[in-house]
Amino acid sequence: MIETDRLELRELRLDDFEAVHAYGSDPEVVEFVPWGPNTEQVTRDFLEKTVAQIGSEDRNDFVFAVVPRGQDRLVGTVGIYADGHQAMLGYAYDRSVWDMGYATEAALAMVEMAFDVLGVRRVWAACDPENTASARVLQKCGMVLEGRLRHDTDIRGELRDTLVWGILESEWHDTNMEGST
Ligand SMILES: CC(C)(COP(=O)(O)OP(=O)(O)OC[C@H]1O[C@@H](n2cnc3c(N)ncnc32)[C@H](O)[C@@H]1OP(=O)(O)O)[C@@H](O)C(=O)NCCC(=O)NCCS
Repeated sequence: MIETDRLELRELRLDDFEAVHAYGSDPEVVEFVPWGPNTEQVTRDFLEKTVAQIGSEDRNDFVFAVVPRGQDRLVGTVGIYADGHQAMLGYAYDRSVWDMGYATEAALAMVEMAFDVLGVRRVWAACDPENTASARVLQKCGMVLEGRLRHDTDIRGELRDTLVWGILESEWHDTNMEGST
């Protein structure tokens, strides 16, 4: 488990179904992502696939339940997907907790884990050009806008551009060293 100021990031469990399905089936939550709104089966498949990776030696997907400290309530998930020297960051939260800084707090913990525990050299993320809140989260993690892929993402039949954001290990460590002096 990873702890931040206000959050616990713990392994997902199959009995997280209700909370994960609540946001995964919410059309507003999935507006800017290519998945969803989830059927119950899709949410179950996501949980089973994620739980199956826990403890495996060749684990690549590190997806965590985000739970406010002292509460027994999953409010979203955050994940790092490692691939060689890189890792991709992703997240989604229940609308009831948007704009409270949780997404940024959890994302920062994941970026730290990617560089300091998994030892990757670059962390990146993709978001829809209109997903301003997500772009802001990525900026607050120290990521820079690296490019725009035209018509890269199919969101329920509509081809949309994708913004690619990234941070290099050297940038992450420079920023954190500045912060600690
Ligand atoms: C994107 C998402 C994770 C953001 O979560 P959050 O908890 O609101 O994020 P935070 O509170 O940490 O930060 C949000 C930032 O965006 C800003 N923001 C929110 N909505 C905004 C809007 N419509 N326009 C401009 N800025 C906005 C907030 O002010 C805040 O920035 P600030 O700290 O500088 O004030 C959440 O909206 C979500 O789960 N969306 C659905 C799934 C999704 O899109 N996932 C990402 C796929 S790339």
